[in-house]
Amino acid sequence: MKNKWKPQFCNVGKPFPYLIVDNWYNKFEENAIWKELEFLTSRGRDNSLRAEDTIVASIKGKPLGRSYRYYLADIFNYENRTSSNILRFLKKQQSKEFHDLLFKTFPHAINFVSTNQDSSLVSYYENNDVYNVHTDTFQFTCLTWFYKKPKKYKGGDFYFEQPNQMVESKHNRLVIFPSYYRHGVKQIKMDPKLPMGFGRYTITTFYFHVPPAVTLKQK
Ligand SMILES: [Fe+2]
Repeated sequence: MKNKWKPQFCNVGKPFPYLIVDNWYNKFEENAIWKELEFLTSRGRDNSLRAEDTIVASIKGKPLGRSYRYYLADIFNYENRTSSNILRFLKKQQSKEFHDLLFKTFPHAINFVSTNQDSSLVSYYENNDVYNVHTDTFQFTCLTWFYKKPKKYKGGDFYFEQPNQMVESKHNRLVIFPSYYRHGVKQIKMDPKLPMGFGRYTITTFYFHVPPAVTLKQK
């Protein structure tokens, strides 16, 4: 199935460029992603990790983010990505079509192409959840948002402090940016009596490069 991407090249040629792509997943992929997201949250609130209890960005030990979190490496075998729809569709980010968009956006797009590692997680935000402004410790951060329609929550939009811009967290919208940009998520407001699954999902993939081990020969 062909991609029907709608790219927006933001701040190109200015400080802090970033790329938005709407309709990131095609219909087939979107349905498959939904099945996986619903599988993740099907374990319920009591059996889901909270960001506050993981390695979420923090200041002086105080976590900046509140949401449920699902680390895909804990669940799926990374050596065999086909067991996860989210992971197997990451090959879209390695297509020439996507790389061409990156090269139109970032002067250092080659740094994305030369990454050799990725790490993915799903965050799920419900009432009062938030992610205050922070940076990520990787080279590129790639986010895609999902929610059920009609939308049952208010807030939850993504923002860059650098640059000072809001990005509406639309369903099936991807945004990619260098991980050092300061960014966050506005607090969510929704009926706490709703069952799990009506909030805001974020699929996050961090990209980075790990150099091969160098063994020095002893003389
Ligand atoms: Fe982040």
